[in-house]
Amino acid sequence: MVRMNDGRKILITGASGRLGSTLRQAYAVRHLVLSPTRQELDLSRPEKLAEILRPMDFDLCIHCAAITSPDVCEREPELAERVNAQSPAVIASECQRRGARLIHLSTDYVFGGEGDTPLSESDATAPVSTYGRTKLTAESAVLQACPSALVARVSWLFGGAQACFPEQMLAQARAGREVEAIGDKWSVPTCMDDIAVWLELLWQQEPAVHGLLHLCNSGLATWQTFAQAALDIAYKKGLLEQPATVKGNRLEAFTGFLAKRPRYTPMANQKLVSLLGESPRSWQDALSAHLGRSALRL
Ligand SMILES: NC(=O)c1ccc[n+]([C@@H]2O[C@H](COP(=O)([O-])OP(=O)(O)OC[C@H]3O[C@@H](n4cnc5c(N)ncnc54)[C@H](OP(=O)(O)O)[C@@H]3O)[C@@H](O)[C@H]2O)c1
Repeated sequence: MVRMNDGRKILITGASGRLGSTLRQAYAVRHLVLSPTRQELDLSRPEKLAEILRPMDFDLCIHCAAITSPDVCEREPELAERVNAQSPAVIASECQRRGARLIHLSTDYVFGGEGDTPLSESDATAPVSTYGRTKLTAESAVLQACPSALVARVSWLFGGAQACFPEQMLAQARAGREVEAIGDKWSVPTCMDDIAVWLELLWQQEPAVHGLLHLCNSGLATWQTFAQAALDIAYKKGLLEQPATVKGNRLEAFTGFLAKRPRYTPMANQKLVSLLGESPRSWQDALSAHLGRSALRL
């Protein structure tokens, strides 16, 4: 637990991961943050969780931990079911029992990806992989066990302290390798530093914001346009010596995936806009700010 000053007592699960570590860093300044390791809070054993959670002192839980690799979920569906679907239900029951706020993180992979317009919270889900199915099961289990919970769907995370897709693309370009990315799969790149700000604004709102919410920056991208933007911004900021062009591949032609990927899952963020009272900045602006900040460690 990091004790800084009065505020919320926040339990962050998955705090060694990309989003969890970003949130822990952002909130430890003003709140008490409890961030158990996987060994301390093992989601693969849901039957043990209630007992472990009970003595923990928190009034807000941000549940980030999950098996996030679609291919690992496809290979180990029973484990994925326990970690991604059953454990969130136990966490939700414990939050309901003690009257704590719960923010549960979900994904655009609950959608089937067959459409061509951005998806709202009321659009039909149709996951095409074990990852998407287990995350969807968790959404309804969480809301059933704890109706005041906020289920926040996010997509294509970048920003924060850990290297994500833009840094990987940049590393390839800097090594002089040809950069390739899928050009016919769409979603919304979303900045984790922005998520930290939005969540804190949202959990303070009364009455409590609850139910499904799409938490993403504005705009949409393919992996190819996302990678290209990262390289263009990096070149403009002097982080890349030569301009570089990203070669586009087709999702269909990519044989390296075990789990099926949905093709078109950009989320519409109108509900977030109305809750915040303004439009989230574009992912390009957020990416530019992030790469500017990370210039020294790239
Ligand atoms: N990254 C994205 O682009 C993206 C997109 C859509 C949705 N999301 C959702 O956002 C949330 C956060 O994602 P992320 O990218 O930050 O995840 P991540 O970097 O993959 O981190 C996952 C975290 O979960 C923990 N974890 C995994 N298995 C566990 C277990 N059995 N027991 C306890 N903890 C376990 C990991 O601990 P270890 O360090 O010990 O492995 C790690 O801290 C997830 O719910 C994910 O589904 C992410």
